[in-house]
Amino acid sequence: MPAKSTPNRPPEHAPEFRRRLLRWFRAHGRDLPWRRTRDPYAILVSEFMLQQTQVSRVESYWPRFLARFPTVDALARARPAAVRESWQGLGYYRRAANLHQLARTVRDRHEGRIPAAPEALRQLPGVGRYTAGAVASFAFERAEPAVDTNVARVLRRAFHPRARGAAGEHRLWNTAAALHVRNGRSAWAFNQAIMELGALVCTARIAKCGACPVRPACKTGRKGLRAGS
Ligand code: ADE
Repeated sequence: MPAKSTPNRPPEHAPEFRRRLLRWFRAHGRDLPWRRTRDPYAILVSEFMLQQTQVSRVESYWPRFLARFPTVDALARARPAAVRESWQGLGYYRRAANLHQLARTVRDRHEGRIPAAPEALRQLPGVGRYTAGAVASFAFERAEPAVDTNVARVLRRAFHPRARGAAGEHRLWNTAAALHVRNGRSAWAFNQAIMELGALVCTARIAKCGACPVRPACKTGRKGLRAGS
């Protein structure tokens, strides 16, 4: 097998990419409320909300939901109508039903404690590969990759500009894993930072390469530099 497809081999410029990204995040990352907690339940709720809803909207719904259902156990005990009512305005109610079912599963099968391992998280209702990685790193500070649409776009532009389809996605996950240092706090910061870069700088419509902190460590950015843009 060619070396470039070996899993967990960091890509070229990985240390520089990491260093520049983390420095930028420390200076420019938003102070979002779910970044101030390590409570796995509160983080799970934020991730379910953020799946299809803008940050600004989640900022107002998340504290209200947690005030009404402060723990997994409180949510597990709630009536479906009460959960639905608290979700009113966020849309995509399937997420609320899954979250409610998740709370009941955690109560009944995990002694009320949200598991830390991505494999166990993925068994829970509504939890896919991304959400499992996000909760493992944001709540438990594990060095796990979490590749959502924003992160995939950053990784594709920076390291694999031609990555497409299922094989491309596989590569992006491998690269995300290889970029982590084996240190929990850095893993938390790395995942928050790369998400933030995708949300604020390396955006879908235009990559703001002129304002990008990782440009010298990015394939797409370096190409633009050579072309004089
Ligand atoms: N979207 C999903 N998780 C997020 C987070 N922790 N911060 C900002 N946007 C997100």
